[in-house]
Amino acid sequence: MVKTTNEYKNRVTFAIISHPDAGKTTLTEQLLLHGGVIRQAGTVKGRGSNKMASSDWMAIEQQRGISVTSSVLQFDYAGKRINILDTPGHEDFSEDTYRTLMAVDSAVMVIDSAKGIEPQTRRLFEIVAKRKIPVFTFFNKLDRDGRQAFDLVDELEKTLGIEACPMNWPVGSGQLLQGIYDLQADKLIKYSHTKELDQSVYDEAQTEIELLKEAGNKLDEDKVMYGRQTPVFFGSALANFGVEQFLNEYLKYAPAPSEKPTIDQQEIQPDDPQFTAFVFKIQANMNPNHRDRIAFVRIVSGNFVKGMEVTLARNGKKLKLSNVTEFLADERENIQNAVPGDIIGLYDTGNFQIGDSIFSGKKRVEFEPLPTFTPDLFNRVLAKDVMKQKTYHKGINQLVQEGTVQLFQSWRGQEYILGAVGQLQFEVFQFRMANEYNSQVIFEPIGKKIARWIDPEDLDEKMNSSRSLLMRDRKGDPVILFENQFSLNWFADKYPNVKLQAKL
Ligand code: G4P
Repeated sequence: MVKTTNEYKNRVTFAIISHPDAGKTTLTEQLLLHGGVIRQAGTVKGRGSNKMASSDWMAIEQQRGISVTSSVLQFDYAGKRINILDTPGHEDFSEDTYRTLMAVDSAVMVIDSAKGIEPQTRRLFEIVAKRKIPVFTFFNKLDRDGRQAFDLVDELEKTLGIEACPMNWPVGSGQLLQGIYDLQADKLIKYSHTKELDQSVYDEAQTEIELLKEAGNKLDEDKVMYGRQTPVFFGSALANFGVEQFLNEYLKYAPAPSEKPTIDQQEIQPDDPQFTAFVFKIQANMNPNHRDRIAFVRIVSGNFVKGMEVTLARNGKKLKLSNVTEFLADERENIQNAVPGDIIGLYDTGNFQIGDSIFSGKKRVEFEPLPTFTPDLFNRVLAKDVMKQKTYHKGINQLVQEGTVQLFQSWRGQEYILGAVGQLQFEVFQFRMANEYNSQVIFEPIGKKIARWIDPEDLDEKMNSSRSLLMRDRKGDPVILFENQFSLNWFADKYPNVKLQAKL
């Protein structure tokens, strides 16, 4: 049996959540600079992919490696090993983001101080809040004229329903930014780029700080651990101002890897010597000549040792984990071992699916499934060339296993319908089918907008009609696709005892 160590306790595994343009990439870069990974800002690959039009995104995706290498960034800082998991900023890929958030132990929420809470921030926060994991807030772009700090904190508390605890406080902003006041150390950190010194700004901030000291929320580590309070920082990622204080304080309070629930209500602890892990993301490999992919695996317990044998919980298949990669710095390195909290990349030839659990030894461990989303965009998919059925089916299967789109199949028969949360998912699917599987696909709109799952016991094939299509999902569970709310209501009236269930 492999010895466990306490090494996992120095792991900090997190994701940054934000609305596009709030400064996630810039902050990530600054963190990498502090970690000594890069020497110059502006070098993170895939930068700006959030704002890209779909065609740009395709081009990037075509070169593959870019999004693979920037998916996980690992570096060492102040005695900690940090794993930052990247999440696509574009809302069309939110399914991917949500799954990645299942693999982190905390989240950093970046907010543009001029804009406050934006829609994508709120959506992502809701997912994080469901998991009750710690969230740390960074109000960015303090070097620009923004909203009043009190106003921002108030909005955060009200719209997200979480208590905020300011860790520092801005002294001015924009042209008049003088510095930030470190409320923990009780000292001013001066902003060196200040053009105008302004006494009235100091005085105003002084009054606010006094008020905070008297009436503001006190840091409550228990509340932070359960996601009920968020420590709040102000700064400017671009000017590298307040970033170091943020990083140091964050690392002080960020949680180490914790336990994870299984489908039979067990909790697997990180110090359990049995190796257990789960797949939260699958991405096609950089080399277009090979069909292999990388499965991103989060270690939950035990130590990973290169070459170890594991069992895939879904089908009992035994696999030897020899072809592995980790994401240290910006170069992928072949690793020998890894501990709970770490993310490893397994080269995969088609064994893994999103959400799979793997374990060493005999005790079967299967973690709770990753969340599925209720798609609201649907297309029937067909192969343009009917002679190429084999590659068509292979492509669909693999891309569905990667979570590119959701697949529904008619209850009887071979009809395929794809479901997605964002239109871009279809475009990526079509593009990749053509490029990687040499299969041109055609989409046909089906005029359905709502998907609801039903209990297999309630299933009656008479439920299938032109207004309510009876389908099976990837796992074989029955789903009904409705034309609109009207046809859903009509169905609900006809089958009052059938529970119609939505996913997230
Ligand atoms: P994202 O990943 O969250 O989408 O945001 P990103 O870091 O790409 O930042 C979006 C824009 O905001 C960039 O400007 C970036 O330079 C700017 N920005 C980030 N942090 C700060 C900050 O603290 N202060 C100020 N003033 N700006 C900031 P851009 O013009 O869109 O891109 P670029 O051409 O500068 O790269």
